[in-house]
Amino acid sequence: MEPILTIQGLKKQYSAGTWGLNGIDLTVQPGEFIAVIGPSGAGKSTLLRCMNRLIEPTEGRITFLGEDVVCANKRELRSIRARMGMIFQHYNLVYRSSVLENVLHGRLGYMGSLAGMLGRYPEADKEEAIALLEKVGLENEVYKRADELSGGQKQRVGVCRALAQKPSLILADEPIASLDPKSSKTVMDAIHTNCREQGIACLVNLHQVDYAKAYATRIVGIKAGRVVFDGPSDQLTSDITQYLYEGKEDEMFHKAAI
Ligand SMILES: Nc1ncnc2c1ncn2[C@@H]1O[C@H](COP(=O)(O)OP(=O)(O)OP(=O)(O)O)[C@@H](O)[C@H]1O
Ligand SMILES: [Mg+2]
Repeated sequence: MEPILTIQGLKKQYSAGTWGLNGIDLTVQPGEFIAVIGPSGAGKSTLLRCMNRLIEPTEGRITFLGEDVVCANKRELRSIRARMGMIFQHYNLVYRSSVLENVLHGRLGYMGSLAGMLGRYPEADKEEAIALLEKVGLENEVYKRADELSGGQKQRVGVCRALAQKPSLILADEPIASLDPKSSKTVMDAIHTNCREQGIACLVNLHQVDYAKAYATRIVGIKAGRVVFDGPSDQLTSDITQYLYEGKEDEMFHKAAI
C-alpha cells in the first residue's frame, strides 16, 4: 500500500543550542492509528506541528498524499491542511460561537473565502456536522455557545471539527492531557471509533503509556528528538518504556490520577 505520509531526516532547530527534532524518519499507512509517546520536551509537539507546518522544519522531507509539504506554497499548504485534521490539548474553539459553528469551521478549508467569512455553509455540511455531534453524544449541545461546555464536551467538539474536514490524517496533540479519566476515555473513543470507521489515519501524542497501549496499534517512542521505538503496541516492553522515560517516570501515568 502507498503510504499517506512519509517523513525523512526531519530536523527542527529552535535556536543555536536547541534542537526540537534530531532526524526523524516515519512512514504512515492509510488508516493507521499511531500513538507518539515520550517524556516532556522529547519533541512530540514539534513533530506533529512540522507535519502541517505550524512549525517550519529546519531540514528534511515530508510527503503527504504524494505532495511535498516542506516546499508547498500558500495555496498548496491550504489544500494540504484541509486534508489533515488537528486536535489540540486546549481545544482551540471559538468560544463565543455555537457548537455547530465550531464544527462547521472544519469545512472552511474547502470553501471560498467570502462564503466562509459570511458563514454560508451548504445545508449538507450542517446536516453532517449535526450527525457528527449526535454520534459523540452532543445532540443536546448543538446550539449552545462553546464556552458553556465542560472540558470533555469541548474536546468532543474539537474532534467533530477535525472529522468535518473529512481528512485523510488526524493529528492530535495531547488531546486528553487536560481531562479527567472518564472524559479522556470518551474523547479517545470518539477519535478512535471515527478514525477506524472512516479509514482515517491518526497520529496522537500521549503522555500516558496506558492509553497509548489501549488504543494504538503502533507506538512511536520519541526521546530527545529521535525515534527510539517504532513498532506494534504489544512489543513496547517495560524496559523500553523505562529507557524512554528515564528520570521522568512520573509522566507515564495519567496526569489527573497523580
Ligand atoms: N517555541 C520554542 N522555542 C524554543 N524551543 C522550543 C520551542 N518549542 C519547543 N522547544 C524545545 O524543543 C524541544 C521539544 O519540545 P516539544 O514541545 O516538541 O516537546 P513535547 O514532547 O511536545 O513536550 P511536552 O510533552 O511537554 O508537550 C524541547 O527541548 C523544547 O524546550
Ligand atoms: Mg507537547
